[in-house]
Amino acid sequence: MSSTQSLPGFNVLFDAIATDLREHGYSIQNKALPEEWIDGLLRDMHMLGADQLKLAGVGRAQQHVANANIRRDAISWIESTEGEQGQWLAFSAQLQQHLNRSLMLGLFSFESHFAHYAPGAFYKTHVDAFKGQANRVLSVVLYLNPVWGFGDGGEMVLYSDTDPGTVLCTVSPHAGTLVVFLSEDFPHEVLPALRDRYSIAGWYRVNTSNTGRVDPPA
Ligand code: OGA
Ligand code: MN
Repeated sequence: MSSTQSLPGFNVLFDAIATDLREHGYSIQNKALPEEWIDGLLRDMHMLGADQLKLAGVGRAQQHVANANIRRDAISWIESTEGEQGQWLAFSAQLQQHLNRSLMLGLFSFESHFAHYAPGAFYKTHVDAFKGQANRVLSVVLYLNPVWGFGDGGEMVLYSDTDPGTVLCTVSPHAGTLVVFLSEDFPHEVLPALRDRYSIAGWYRVNTSNTGRVDPPA
């Protein structure tokens, strides 16, 4: 599918996400994107070379060290505006616009990466942004696995912020499932995957630029 083709209508989906975010702070949508897009994104992931998928790091700026005790996924940032990656970025931009209009979130930019969890890989409980420090405000995760069964592990578990012992939901990384949540408000983890697990994780930022300082690119 070419990136010049217009996007199918996502308004019903976007409204559902906005309502969930307003009421609960998170949203889980099955079959959110066309199957052909998911297929294309997975194909693109399979074509990434070992030099393109890098072990993910944890921490900020200079302390950005790969920390195998916390996370074991390998990532590759999505830059292409071609094909299904372009469709994904166009979809993300449209969602951004919709949420800015409906929830006044002031989302300013978007970054996303492919993530591969090899068998045994996990991502321990974390938040994507620390209150008052970061400018990541909204997290999205899209799963690309056409086959995923009970017993394959790799679920994403979302916890309550106010009561970290409380599980809000457990999400199977099945192809087409889209999870959206407020980055600061939900500790979450990826349980050890027992087979190769493919996904995209992305974040919307607000603009924290002022006259003296311009945000560095993501
Ligand atoms: C992340 C993350 C969840 C998932 O990359 O920060 O929490 O299910 N990913 O892949
Ligand atoms: Mn996360």
